[in-house]
Amino acid sequence: MLLLEYLDTVSTDYTALIVIDKSKPSVQRQPWRKMLRVLAFVQRHKRQENVARSGHSLSGIIVITRTFKLRLFLFRVRSLSMDRLTGWLWRYRRRVLFGFLSLLVVDGAALIVPLVIRGAIDRLASGEGGVLTSGLYIVGLAAVVMLFRFLWRYFLIGSARQIERDLRSKLYQHLLRLSASFYNEHKTGDLMAHATNDIDAVSRACGFGVLTIADPIFMIPVAIGIMLSIDPRLTLYAIIPLPILTVFMLGFGKVIHRRFEVVQEAFSGLMEKVRENVAGIRVVKSFVQEEGTERDFAATNSTFIDKNMALVRMWGLFEPLIELLGGATMAIVLWAGGISVISGSISLGDFVAFSQYLMMLTWPMISLGWAVNIIQRGRASLERINRLLAAEPEIVDSPHPQATHGSKIEIKNLTFSYPSRDGNAPALSNIDLKIEEGTTLGLVGLTGSGKSTLVRMIPRVFDPPPGCVHLGGEDVHDLSLAVLRGMIGFVPQDPFLFSASIAENIAFGNPGANTDQVQQAARLAGIHDEIIAFPEGYETRVGERGIALSGGQKQRVAIARALLLVPQILIFDDPLSAVDAEREAFILSNLREFFRGRTAIIIAHRLSAVMHADRIVVLDKGQIVERGTHAELLARGGIYRSIWDLQQAEREVNGEPA
Ligand SMILES: Nc1ncnc2c1ncn2[C@@H]1O[C@H](COP(=O)(O)OP(=O)(O)OP(=O)(O)O)[C@@H](O)[C@H]1O
Ligand SMILES: [Mg+2]
Repeated sequence: MLLLEYLDTVSTDYTALIVIDKSKPSVQRQPWRKMLRVLAFVQRHKRQENVARSGHSLSGIIVITRTFKLRLFLFRVRSLSMDRLTGWLWRYRRRVLFGFLSLLVVDGAALIVPLVIRGAIDRLASGEGGVLTSGLYIVGLAAVVMLFRFLWRYFLIGSARQIERDLRSKLYQHLLRLSASFYNEHKTGDLMAHATNDIDAVSRACGFGVLTIADPIFMIPVAIGIMLSIDPRLTLYAIIPLPILTVFMLGFGKVIHRRFEVVQEAFSGLMEKVRENVAGIRVVKSFVQEEGTERDFAATNSTFIDKNMALVRMWGLFEPLIELLGGATMAIVLWAGGISVISGSISLGDFVAFSQYLMMLTWPMISLGWAVNIIQRGRASLERINRLLAAEPEIVDSPHPQATHGSKIEIKNLTFSYPSRDGNAPALSNIDLKIEEGTTLGLVGLTGSGKSTLVRMIPRVFDPPPGCVHLGGEDVHDLSLAVLRGMIGFVPQDPFLFSASIAENIAFGNPGANTDQVQQAARLAGIHDEIIAFPEGYETRVGERGIALSGGQKQRVAIARALLLVPQILIFDDPLSAVDAEREAFILSNLREFFRGRTAIIIAHRLSAVMHADRIVVLDKGQIVERGTHAELLARGGIYRSIWDLQQAEREVNGEPA
């Protein structure tokens, strides 16, 4: 246990410390066996606990005996944290290794080709012939290169893709765990950028970046070695400009990289503009703002082009410069090498092979500088992703969940402010409220009075302070989130439908429900008739690629979704605001049977929707100002009464029955 606690406190490389108590004879007799058992245990433990977080390799252990005789066994526990690129590569070490080996074969074969050409030219020069054999050799080598180039791509780029997939699903899982307040503070566009650009950059670093580092490490020494064996003096001349190339590349790469980021940012801005204007196209049109929007867009568009041109200029300068440098090197070699060939100190074949090696060196020298940039970029992106992954969900599951006893809801002295609204008055203050099991509460109040905020506290969409909200006799913090939320059928104020069929949308919380159950829920919600009138009935798709539902239809689909859960508690946040009064009354009277025995909260602007509730509470500026039954509140002559009178007058004007 000591070991495990120790391991948990350290996250980077560490050495495990095991104290073996000598007084225990079994241990004394078989220290090795014990050690191996502990090691296996540690491996297993770390694997289970941290499989998503890190990869570990055990490579060491220090054992101190009771008598303080220090024994060192050749093991160290090394933690490869998933916070780093190496950790991710380690996870796919087998593939990466195969990729490296294939790369070695490709490089090896490529390095032999100039030697074959040298032989052929020298034989030609001496009139021996045998050129065809050399040609066949070269074809054979090309075939080997082809095969193994495929393999390294398959393994290295493949592992990068796997890392990409893992990282993306890890991020997605994490985003699902985070609380509503996190999304209050983060822009959707930013999160999308993390899920695309940053993950892309990590993948590139793990695939292309690793390749461009690994390739030169083998290629450069071997090529230079062969060149030295051909002509040391010429080699010296030829390789002098090469490091300049790398340094040059590092500097250039940095500038290019920076401009590239700017372009990416401008691109995000452009996308956001397009998204916003397309999503809000109806508003744009109805306010006749096409021209202004177009101007605005044109400005964003030209910023994007300007940034892009800055990048293009850099690239345009960069490539010719590289070629110039390469050309200069070649000139030196031609001059110095030519002299050597004429003086006979090297053969013509030597010279040709030499210049081929030189050309082979240029790319790895460039790519080395490039790789540094790609990897830096990948690391920066991984850091950004890690910061996101480090965001802890504010709403955490209870470590020791209690069982509920019934569905009575009790709110005691609740005061709540939204996290992003520092300084402002709290959205709710000193709320005391009891909703007995099986009763219905009506919640009314002016807009912005805190009705939605109050009901969000119960399923912990936003977290109330501890001790304030109780369900079934337990603080909601002491219930498991799954149990708590599973008990509640929640219809939010602006319901969201997924791009799926109507049936799938209704069955969202209960995918196992059969057609009868789905239709029953839809009937209760008063939407069944309208659904079967659609061309494909319940299979009609809604959203982006399907038909558009009206606001009132959406609301009732959301009600059906909540009813299908057959929950103990129902919370309706103004769910019939977009439906006319008559139909509202009809649906609510239908639902009354369903509500029997369940605890319910109904928020409504139209008081006729709550007049039958067992109790009604009126909120104003986050406080309860009136409470009682419909009759009591009317008799009281307060806010409720004045809203009621106003709405009655409206009805009369509209000619609706009171
Ligand atoms: N997600 C949020 N983040 C920050 N503040 C919020 C958030 N939601 C609501 N508020 C603020 O809390 C206050 C109460 O809002 P709430 O949505 O609870 O009112 P409401 O009574 O439901 O109004 P309506 O009848 O218009 O739905 C408002 O001042 C609002 O600005
Ligand atoms: Mg509301």
